[in-house]
Amino acid sequence: MDHFLYRDGALFAEDVPVADIAAEVGTPFYCYSTATLTRHFRLFDEALEGLDHLVCYAMKAASNQAILKTLAALGAGMDVVSGGEYARARAAGVPGERIVFSGVGKTREEMRAALEGGIRQFNVESEPEMLMLNEVALGLGRVAPITIRVNPDVDAKTHAKIATGKSENKFGVPIARAREVYAQAAALPGLQVVGIDVHIGSQLTDLAPFRAAYEKVADLTEALRADGHDIRRLDLGGGLGIPYTRSNESPPLPMDYGALIRQTLGHLGCEIEIEPGRLVVGNAGILVASVIYVKSGEGRDFLILDAAMNDLIRPAMYDAHHDIVTVAEPAPGAEQAPYDIVGQVCETGDTFARGRMMPPIAQGDLVAFRGAGAYGAVMASEYNTRPLVPEVLVAGDRFAVIRARPSFDEIINRDTIPEWL
Ligand code: LLP
Repeated sequence: MDHFLYRDGALFAEDVPVADIAAEVGTPFYCYSTATLTRHFRLFDEALEGLDHLVCYAMKAASNQAILKTLAALGAGMDVVSGGEYARARAAGVPGERIVFSGVGKTREEMRAALEGGIRQFNVESEPEMLMLNEVALGLGRVAPITIRVNPDVDAKTHAKIATGKSENKFGVPIARAREVYAQAAALPGLQVVGIDVHIGSQLTDLAPFRAAYEKVADLTEALRADGHDIRRLDLGGGLGIPYTRSNESPPLPMDYGALIRQTLGHLGCEIEIEPGRLVVGNAGILVASVIYVKSGEGRDFLILDAAMNDLIRPAMYDAHHDIVTVAEPAPGAEQAPYDIVGQVCETGDTFARGRMMPPIAQGDLVAFRGAGAYGAVMASEYNTRPLVPEVLVAGDRFAVIRARPSFDEIINRDTIPEWL
């Protein structure tokens, strides 16, 4: 459920007509709903009620500080994967003790910054990382709290580019070698083992792979405890999928996911962390664009939009489907026609949808990409010197620009010209 609904013949973001925002901000822009963000975060929080838990929002999905502040005020922790994300979370007021640091390639500098600024735990992904973290921690006279990310060799049954839990993926240490690696970690004085971490992939629409992974984590918890490790925290990653089409998808709900966690791991008495990203923010955001031209082609018609692949890369990168709706509500029973919906960038990959059935639509009309809140704005680039799309946050009948569109001068002046030119 989200808060982008038609009312009086027009698409609203909560109580604000989307067309009003477009008139003020110009298109394209991303628009987020505070009510949807709040609702989705709470669904996870409530799903784990009764268990000692922390929902660490995977801020890679959408990292604007206004979004982070909204979630932090509800009690969210953050899952960060870079020094930049760590700094951003801190700038948004998230305390270090609510930040977990994931990622396969943490650098010394990133480790140092997090240790100095405060960190709940590092999710360590390899032996060389473990050795480096030990060194950095000792150099600072600190002890780094860690989990080790295990790779459970489970097929997440999702798009190959976002599956992470198979043995051929670059993530984590093979679960079969976990006891050995934990023994090494325990011998390093700069590290303190606090738990286990696992994350098997993103946009999972079935609970079975989670069950398979979490059952392995339960067994491992017992084995590691028997080896003398103090396993008191389980970080279960993110990955719960969202419906990208309104009609035919019904992925499991956070409540079902919570029940699964209870069933597979509840008996262990561990503190539970989860790292959802997409489900928190995906359907809490839309990308609004204008139709520049309706172009008749050879046997097909094109809608050429002012948004392009640089603004929303998911269709080009993962063949992802996003529902695209007109901001003016179509008349009931309006006849639909197929369009290839494309952007302005000079490559054929810049295609959002092929043969998409759309209601009557004309030059200048506004459209909205649904489900664009996660991995939308954060994956945008300035390819073709197209300015990064602004972001807007709505709360009830208010809205605010939370990241402004840069001017051409701001973009151009980032380059510096060597003195010999
Ligand atoms: N934790 C870790 C360690 C992760 O790698 C990820 C996502 C998450 C949590 C959050 O997963 P989520 O709940 O959002 O599924 N750009 C791709 C998705 C990449 C996901 C990367 N890792 C897309 O647009 O589909």
